[in-house]
Amino acid sequence: MNAPHLEIHLDERDLAAALRADVRTGLTAAPKWLPPKWFYDARGSELFDEITRLPEYYPTRAERSILAARAGEIARITEAKTLVELGSGSSEKTRLLLDALLAHGTLGAFVPLDVSASALADAVARLDTAYPALSVRGIVGDYTRHLHHLPDGGSRMIAFLGGTIGNLPPAERATFLRGVRGVLDPGEWLLLGADLVKGADVLLPAYDDAAGVTADFNRNVLRVINRHLDASFAPERFDHVARWDETHEWIEMRLRAREAMRVPIRALDLTVEFARGEEVRTEISAKFRPDGLRDELAAAGFRIRQRWTDDAGRFTVCLAQASDD
Ligand code: AVJ
Repeated sequence: MNAPHLEIHLDERDLAAALRADVRTGLTAAPKWLPPKWFYDARGSELFDEITRLPEYYPTRAERSILAARAGEIARITEAKTLVELGSGSSEKTRLLLDALLAHGTLGAFVPLDVSASALADAVARLDTAYPALSVRGIVGDYTRHLHHLPDGGSRMIAFLGGTIGNLPPAERATFLRGVRGVLDPGEWLLLGADLVKGADVLLPAYDDAAGVTADFNRNVLRVINRHLDASFAPERFDHVARWDETHEWIEMRLRAREAMRVPIRALDLTVEFARGEEVRTEISAKFRPDGLRDELAAAGFRIRQRWTDDAGRFTVCLAQASDD
């Protein structure tokens, strides 16, 4: 795992401690909740990749179509020398950016940052082979905590794609965006992918697909807790629930107990009780309006230089520039 091109700021012990704290806090709260970052063990990452190929899940394809059409323009405007990708996962769509920036002749380094050392090691190995001219250095870290480990300045572009910004509730989003602005110099770039507000007829199936892959992905957090915290969740005793919250304009995923249960979590010396029908919130996925996104970026110290949507108007990619201090 400790490949030469990986820099580790988050090891197994840090992750275990963070998981323990999150599970204790979230499952003793009322209502209960768990943070979405714990979906992504090896199986969860595979399930997410499967989600991105589902007919109902449009965001990945919509964003890819934007990047395919605009990567050249992004390269010409930014002339980035270093591309940083936050929460990079498998870095598939990133190749469109790497190809365009390399063709433009400016790019020298790619720095993906992800909490999953295994996903990152795979991606770094693949990209190293595919792009021998590029310096590829993976950072194992949490994009809400380890931004200060990014390489120093000089025409950097930080990409945060996929709509993952929507996993953060508004206050955390503001803190995160200010943090990103804080590590950039004026004139440097943020490339942000965000899903747009649209009808529940399109949104809900994207989070509750006919094949049940999203349901399996949602339940995966219980398997992660079982394995790491010696717990006894029976994932099949929880139903997958996806809701569109009109007020907050976000999708909520929940797990609903099919029956009353007492679940021991031995590593925490905790037994969690569920009433029949009780729900645990496992993810919010906020959807954006162009004006709202502009205002949030402005409040964090960014000015939008260019923004694009896919043909169906479902998803947006914003190219924002760090304003003068
Ligand atoms: C990876 C956070 C962008 O919110 O759409 C997919 C995760 N959850 N299906 C999203 C997810 C359920 C995804 N992000």
